[in-house]
Amino acid sequence: MDKLIIKGGKKLTGEVSISGSKNAALPIFISTLLAPGLHEISNVPFLRDINTTIKVLESLGGAVQGNGNIVSIDTSNINSVEATYELVKTMRASVLVLGPLLARYGRARVSLPGGCAIGARPIDQHLKGLKALGAEINLSHGYVEATAKSLKGARVNFDMPTVGGTEHIMMTATLAKGDTIIENAAREPEITDLAMMLIAMGAKIEGAGSDTIKITGVKQLSPVNYRVMPDRIEAGTFMIAAAITGGDVKIKNMQLGDIDALIFKLLDTGVEITNKNGVVKVKGPKRLKSVNIKTRPYPGFPTDMQAQFMALMSVADGASVIAENIFENRFMHVSELMRFGADITIDGRSATVKGVKKLSGAPVMATDLRASASLILAGLAADNTTEISRIYHLDRGYESIEKKLAALGADIQRVKE
Ligand code: EPU
Repeated sequence: MDKLIIKGGKKLTGEVSISGSKNAALPIFISTLLAPGLHEISNVPFLRDINTTIKVLESLGGAVQGNGNIVSIDTSNINSVEATYELVKTMRASVLVLGPLLARYGRARVSLPGGCAIGARPIDQHLKGLKALGAEINLSHGYVEATAKSLKGARVNFDMPTVGGTEHIMMTATLAKGDTIIENAAREPEITDLAMMLIAMGAKIEGAGSDTIKITGVKQLSPVNYRVMPDRIEAGTFMIAAAITGGDVKIKNMQLGDIDALIFKLLDTGVEITNKNGVVKVKGPKRLKSVNIKTRPYPGFPTDMQAQFMALMSVADGASVIAENIFENRFMHVSELMRFGADITIDGRSATVKGVKKLSGAPVMATDLRASASLILAGLAADNTTEISRIYHLDRGYESIEKKLAALGADIQRVKE
């Protein structure tokens, strides 16, 4: 197993380029199941979750080939409608194959994902949506079995704006008869990116990016070439890396408008952000000011930036209250940040962070993807050496993060444990 060794205290400077979005690429890959033929997806990040998605598609009979950041997916010969526990437990998003397989083949069998480190994460809303479209759903032996002679458009009203649920029903409804209206839809930019892919395939979708999405079913979809949007969470993580080290970093290939909630909070902490010809410059102040955040569905502050922002607030002047409203257990990084000397108390779904003058490097353990990123950020700001173990979580969602940070002047190395 690999670990990261960071010698903190270096101000980051220079230029970094943001990779394609993990959370957009995953459903985009899965949507190729809706149209038999050869698709070409570009700007794909090299990540473990992408490899898992490729394994899922291959297990269904898809043929996948990579060439740099371009991945060709041939879905002409799909010969299975089952996603096993082995694949779904490795990556929950695998469950999104259920609806597309059902829409094309009238039947699908997919393992239930179970909980994960950040919360219970049920898929009841996905199943409610599929049932509304006419699927018969049975749960047995840890698997969801869905059957339908034909799917019919329907109104689906989600209990909460669920990203995966919205993507799942939007994909499935493209091949249902008639109109589907998704109400209380999630509005994340990754949903709009998926909708653009589906529209390029011939789907009829209106309103993606708003809370009401209308999908008019079509008979069939065609394969396409599509470029994945930049990863807004990776971009946000590098913005915080610049801020926490008092650095001065230029960020290329990011879409500033996708992460407004973070930008406004960073400006309040005293970080300078400018955008010139699509290159975003982020300059950290000598001392950061504390601000409060509450995670919310898009366009609110993203839960996927909460841990990284907490690392930032741990060295800001004053106290910051951080409320996590999306996942019930997304404070696993708190006890690790405290090993750096951070002053944090948790009360239910809120954490109060009292900024300290300096963090001190420590051996710590990564617990999930974004928690790992927060530990790197703390390590960059801390004095002395930090060792982060269990970094396999990081490889699920950040492409070459240590190389990108080293190119900005960080003293960071990956070593075998
Ligand atoms: N929920 C339900 N029932 C459902 C679906 C969701 O109760 O059927 C609840 C969840 O338990 C959670 C809330 O609704 O409390 C929101 O969950 P959502 O469905 O929006 O999350 P997701 O689709 O499972 C995606 C991202 C996550 C990101 C969340 C929230 C992907 C592959 N994953 O998950 O990304 O945190 O949206 O923005 O797109 C990450 O990248 O580190 C990550 C965890």
